[in-house]
Amino acid sequence: MRRAVMIGTGSALPRRQVSNAELARTVDTSDEWIVERTGIRNRYVAGEGETTSSLATEAARNAIEAAGIAPSDIGLIILATATPDQTFPATATIVQAALGVDDCVAFDVQAVCSGFLYALSVADSMIRGGSASHALVIGAETFSRILDWEDRTTCVLFGDGAGAVVLKAEDGGDRGVLATRLHADGRHNQLLYVDGGPSTTQTVGKLRMKGQEVFRHAVTNLAQVLREVMQDAGLTVDDIDWVVPHQANRRILDATARKLGLPAERVIITVDQHANTSAASVPLALDVAVRDGRIKPGDLLVLEAMGGGFTWGAAAIRY
Ligand code: UT7
Repeated sequence: MRRAVMIGTGSALPRRQVSNAELARTVDTSDEWIVERTGIRNRYVAGEGETTSSLATEAARNAIEAAGIAPSDIGLIILATATPDQTFPATATIVQAALGVDDCVAFDVQAVCSGFLYALSVADSMIRGGSASHALVIGAETFSRILDWEDRTTCVLFGDGAGAVVLKAEDGGDRGVLATRLHADGRHNQLLYVDGGPSTTQTVGKLRMKGQEVFRHAVTNLAQVLREVMQDAGLTVDDIDWVVPHQANRRILDATARKLGLPAERVIITVDQHANTSAASVPLALDVAVRDGRIKPGDLLVLEAMGGGFTWGAAAIRY
């Protein structure tokens, strides 16, 4: 059986860190409120010259180096983002050019915070279908550029960054993507959205969210999709070595783990340092845990995310 095996991970963060205390100097908030309600202590914010494509390119270079391949080996680039450099061309093609990959398939996927799960699932299908032997899957965002910095209910929650993985087609063996599950329910698209766009306002717009309602749906949907993907892979919650979740809110991570009966020590948490980086959050957390040695070859990982749309999804992977 052909599988998409993860052979390298990478990530990138902007230079500038912004603490809760720094935010509290310009917005009516406090370090205590942000930590207690979200677990966030720090986020990174893109500065001059830093864009979604520049962060994505740096993360991709790190993943390619870790994989020990040449950029020219890559036949497919899928980049998940809700904050592209431009409306078009796809940011994936900007990254392709920056990496010096002459000819490959390259496109963006837009599923907001679930974007990396959607991109991973598409790349997995294309690899198993034989359209590429090496794929680069990236999640990259600069949400700082679509935040309303006067709205304390949203601006304290998000940060910028990028994460990437290299997938390789391998025949036989038990490593690789075992199962993926995706969902969308567009009835809820007014609970988390951007109030602008090329075809409506001809502006970029700002992020708007009804946080409490998103929170409620997140815990239910994430617990459900985690169970589904484990069932598809023929495994149980006890088989999971690491859950690598979307990093939106520490309380969502704890509540989801409790609902599944999963020990908190098996959940990778980076929300305290990165805040919510949307499509970048899962590959960023994955790269952190691979590089600090927690995630080891042979471990069973479950990646999961939920975001605007709503969209949500999960993947079971033998690393
Ligand atoms: O990535 C996509 C998925 N997104 C999410 O999963 C986000 C899900 N939602 C959440 O994480 C939480 O709902 C929030 C962190 C957004 C909000 O936490 P909450 O515990 O649901 O707070 P709340 O919205 O019920 O607000 C409680 C109070 C309100 O004041 P009143 O009305 O009780 O007087 C808010 O105005 O906290 C106030 N508040 C703040 N206070 C200080 C809201 N934001 C802030 C703030 N600093 N930054």
